[in-house]
Amino acid sequence: MREEVNLRSQRKNEHVQHALNQKPQNVISDFDKVHFVHHSMPAVNLDEVDLSTAIGDMKFDVPLYINAMTGGSSWTKSINEKFGKVAEATGIPMAVGSMHAAVRHPELSGSYSIVREVNPEGLVFANVGADVSLEGAKKAVDMIRADGLQIHLNVAQELIMPEGDRDFKSWQSNIKSVLNGVDVPVIVKEVGFGMSRETLQLLKAAGVKYVDVSGRGGTNFAEIENARRSAQDMDYLSDWGMSTVQSLMESKGFQKDMTILASGGVKTPLDAMKSLALGGSAVGMSHTLLKYVEDNEVEATIEFVEQFFNQMKKIAVMVNAKTIEELRTSPIVFSPDIVSWMEQRNIQ
Ligand code: FNR
Repeated sequence: MREEVNLRSQRKNEHVQHALNQKPQNVISDFDKVHFVHHSMPAVNLDEVDLSTAIGDMKFDVPLYINAMTGGSSWTKSINEKFGKVAEATGIPMAVGSMHAAVRHPELSGSYSIVREVNPEGLVFANVGADVSLEGAKKAVDMIRADGLQIHLNVAQELIMPEGDRDFKSWQSNIKSVLNGVDVPVIVKEVGFGMSRETLQLLKAAGVKYVDVSGRGGTNFAEIENARRSAQDMDYLSDWGMSTVQSLMESKGFQKDMTILASGGVKTPLDAMKSLALGGSAVGMSHTLLKYVEDNEVEATIEFVEQFFNQMKKIAVMVNAKTIEELRTSPIVFSPDIVSWMEQRNIQ
C-alpha cells in the first residue's frame, strides 16, 4: 500500500519534471497557420473590449483557465498552492490533476485541497479518469468542493505507459453514470492528443455538454511516457493526435449544442485569441503556466496572466471585435495544410 502511494507520488513528480523539460514541438505550430485579417480602422476602443465568458452557469471575465496538471506529492502540492494563488488573484478557473490516487489514499488529499484553501471562492475543477466510479467521482468533487468535474480521456498515454490501462470499453457507460450522478457540470477533456468529430459525436450522445478538446502542440504525453523509461519503443508516436486548431475545426458542428473549451499548445495571447475565434469559449494552459510559475514566483505569474489578458484585448481591437461573439465572425485565412485537413474531413 505504502509502496503504491510512493510510486504514484513519484509518477506525479516525473510527469511535472519531464513536462518542464519539454521543448516546443514545432517551430511553426498550427496556430501559426491560422491568420487574422488586420483591421486598420476599428470601431472599438481598448477599454470597451469585453471577453467575459461562461461554462454553463459559471461566469468569468478572463476567458483563460489553468488546466489540469498535478497533486499527489509534496512538490506538486506546492505547485498547486502557487496555482491556487494565481487563480485567486486573477479570477480565472483552475483544475487540479488526476485525483485517483487521493480518492483511494486520503492521506494525499491535502495536495489537492490546498487549491481550495488558498482560493475559497474561486472556480475550481476536480479531475478524474474515465474509468472512475461514481462514488470516486463524488469523493473527488467533495475533496476540493469543486465547482466542476473534469474527466480526462488519455487512451494514448495509458497505452504507451507499460503500467497503463488496457481496458477502455467501460468508459462510455462510466461517463454517463458520472454525468447523471454528480451535481456539478462535467467537462470531458483530452490530455494533448485532440478530439475528432467522431469522439465529439459519442460525447454528445452521452449527454456531455462541456468538452475541452486539448490538442497536440504543447505538452506531449507520448514523449513524456517514452522519456520516463529507458526502452523508448513507442517514440515514433510523437506526432500522434490532432492539433488544437484541427480539433477546433472538428468541433465546428457541435459548437451550437456544446461548450467547447480550447487547450493544448497555447503559448501566446495570439494563440489564445485564435482559439476563441475558432469556437473555443475559454482557453486552458498547462505547460506555459507551469514553466512560468516554476521559473518565477507567484506575483510574477499573476502579472504574466494579467499582461496575457491585456494583450488579448489589444488583439481584439486589431480585428475590430468587442466580444468573443464578434471575434468568431471576424475573417480568418488558413494555410494550405489546414485547408486540406478541412477538405478531407468535409468540414465547412
Ligand atoms: C497534464 N495534463 C493532465 N490532464 C488531466 O486531465 N489530468 C492530469 O492529471 C494531467 N496531468 C498533467 C501533468 C502535467 C505536468 C501536464 C503539463 C499536463 C494535461 C493538461 O491538462 C493539458 O490537457 C495538456 O497538457 C495540454 O495543454 P498544454 O500543456 O499544451 O497547455
